[in-house]
Amino acid sequence: TATDGAAAAARRLSCQAPDSRDKCVILFGTQTGTAERFAKSLRAQLEGRYGGSTAFEVLDIEQYDAPAQLPREKLVFLLMATYGDGDPTDSATDFWTWLSEAAEGGGGDGLLAGLSFGVFGLGNRQYEHFCAMGRKVSKAMRQLGADEAVARGEGDDDRDIDEDFDRWCSQLFAALDASGLAGASSGLSADFLAAYDVEECSLAEVPASAVDRLPAGGSGLNSHSPFLATVGAVRELHTGGGRSCVHLELDIAGCRASYEAGDHVAVFAENSPAVVAAAAAALGLPLDHCFRLRLPAANKHSLPEPAVAGPLTLRCALARYADLLSAPNKAALLALAACATDAKEAARLQRLASIEGKGEYHAYVVAGKRSLLEMMQEFRSARPSLGAFFGSVAPHLQPRYYSISSAPQQHPRSVHITCAVVREDMPSGRVHEGVASCWLARAQVGQQVPLFLRRSTFKLPASPSVPLIMVGPGTGLAPFRGFLQQRAALLKSGARLGTAHLFFGCRNRKHDFIYEEELEAAVAGGALTQLHAAFSRERSQKEYVQHQMEAHAAEVWAALSDSAGGYLYVCGDAKNMAKDVHHTLHAIAAKATGCSDAQAEVMIKKLADSGRYLKDVW
Ligand code: 2AM
Repeated sequence: TATDGAAAAARRLSCQAPDSRDKCVILFGTQTGTAERFAKSLRAQLEGRYGGSTAFEVLDIEQYDAPAQLPREKLVFLLMATYGDGDPTDSATDFWTWLSEAAEGGGGDGLLAGLSFGVFGLGNRQYEHFCAMGRKVSKAMRQLGADEAVARGEGDDDRDIDEDFDRWCSQLFAALDASGLAGASSGLSADFLAAYDVEECSLAEVPASAVDRLPAGGSGLNSHSPFLATVGAVRELHTGGGRSCVHLELDIAGCRASYEAGDHVAVFAENSPAVVAAAAAALGLPLDHCFRLRLPAANKHSLPEPAVAGPLTLRCALARYADLLSAPNKAALLALAACATDAKEAARLQRLASIEGKGEYHAYVVAGKRSLLEMMQEFRSARPSLGAFFGSVAPHLQPRYYSISSAPQQHPRSVHITCAVVREDMPSGRVHEGVASCWLARAQVGQQVPLFLRRSTFKLPASPSVPLIMVGPGTGLAPFRGFLQQRAALLKSGARLGTAHLFFGCRNRKHDFIYEEELEAAVAGGALTQLHAAFSRERSQKEYVQHQMEAHAAEVWAALSDSAGGYLYVCGDAKNMAKDVHHTLHAIAAKATGCSDAQAEVMIKKLADSGRYLKDVW
């Protein structure tokens, strides 16, 4: 497992040959991964600035022997998330117990004298004890005689935590430059890149499962054990309009995981052959190049075990494991800069990754929607080795989650997916094709799809007589199709159903009113009481689901009142739709009950707290 890999890496780290450079340790205590991401980004940036004289190590605080090590360090940075009521994350509990006891006990006077440190706390201002761990750790370290080299930083996950972190980093670099703590800048060098060791091998050594076949399937219970489902059906749901949305039925007979309507399915997709070929060209290697990756003997960057251990072909490695179409992160840009042989390209990449170049990064990479592949094609002298590419440049391609659009009561052997196909023109002229959606859209009947099933809390109430309000424009309809299948099965078995209203929205009745006939059949059959459809591009005025909700405010509020005890479900776009629907709900509550805005807020919060207002949004 990943944890075993990390533990093995840590063990190897502790017995590596000593580095002649000064050492700086970056510790992270994370619950959701943000502090770890920041720790790695900080390491990459520090390595770029001071790598010549100082070696930077990133460690999960759980794996750090603080009582033995901390008093001997010279420079330490701590990225500390706060969990719950101002508590340490699970991984930081031992560390915090030791540190707080040492500081409070009084006997630890001067224990950390000679140590310089910096703390960045991570938290969320919605919570009372915002960044409490960062504050407490910083105070305890000072009590023990350590010197705070840079003012403590705080990141608010409710706003722009990346921005907060960038600001702290620039203060940190200024402090290091002024104090000389990390030695002189030496410029970037590929020597300091986190890279796997690469071993070339022959095609004869590569198993078929790493050339053109998929590895044997697993249980389908989690990401480490994907099940190989078989495509049973695939069809286009749109009828014109220039966009595409596909319906897939994946046969899961034999899968150890089961599902309920409202659960998710995670799909491991592959990059398209065209993207894979372009990436191989940018790396300057043939597609049938065969290799394996190993952890370097002196794993000073605490690289995890490679996900792509091999032996395998470059075609397979790029198709399955490399995230080539997302925007390159700053660590990737720095890694490319370190590999660039053209000084101008190196400088430009370094600038884009730097704090000072933040505006340029936003304009060029973020607003320009440039992909990692595109940057590699543009900065042609930056040609990382395969070890550096998989170690520092390309993030691991992640599985993509879809809300299942079927119910096991009607489809016990298959899960259905309703997938909007992402194909967009980018400002740079590139046509961006979503990795997973385009791969699914290209799928043929009989093809295998590695997947696993994931439980969600987006479920029908236990009692079928409870009234329902469902809001799902576009592919937000997916879980409700499953709900309606489940209700149809309940009806058939003699259950008495409560009312159910579905608010669906699309652009145009003629083109993207997906599953229209099924929904009408659900109304005719009694699984659905009423279907309220909003068409946003049929008339000059936009009509959205929330407008339909307002038009039927009385029914909506009657279902959700405490006496009716109904459930509200919202599925689809989180950024705009779910927020707008939430505001509309406020207005509906205020109007229906004649209460103030603040009282409406309380009522809706109560609805959510009691588990009767559920969201499946992305
Ligand atoms: P639009 O693209 O014409 O603006 C499914 O994507 C449907 O959701 C489309 O009809 C889309 O309309 C609509 N939609 C876009 N933004 C929305 C929002 N903020 N609230 C509700 N529906 C929205």
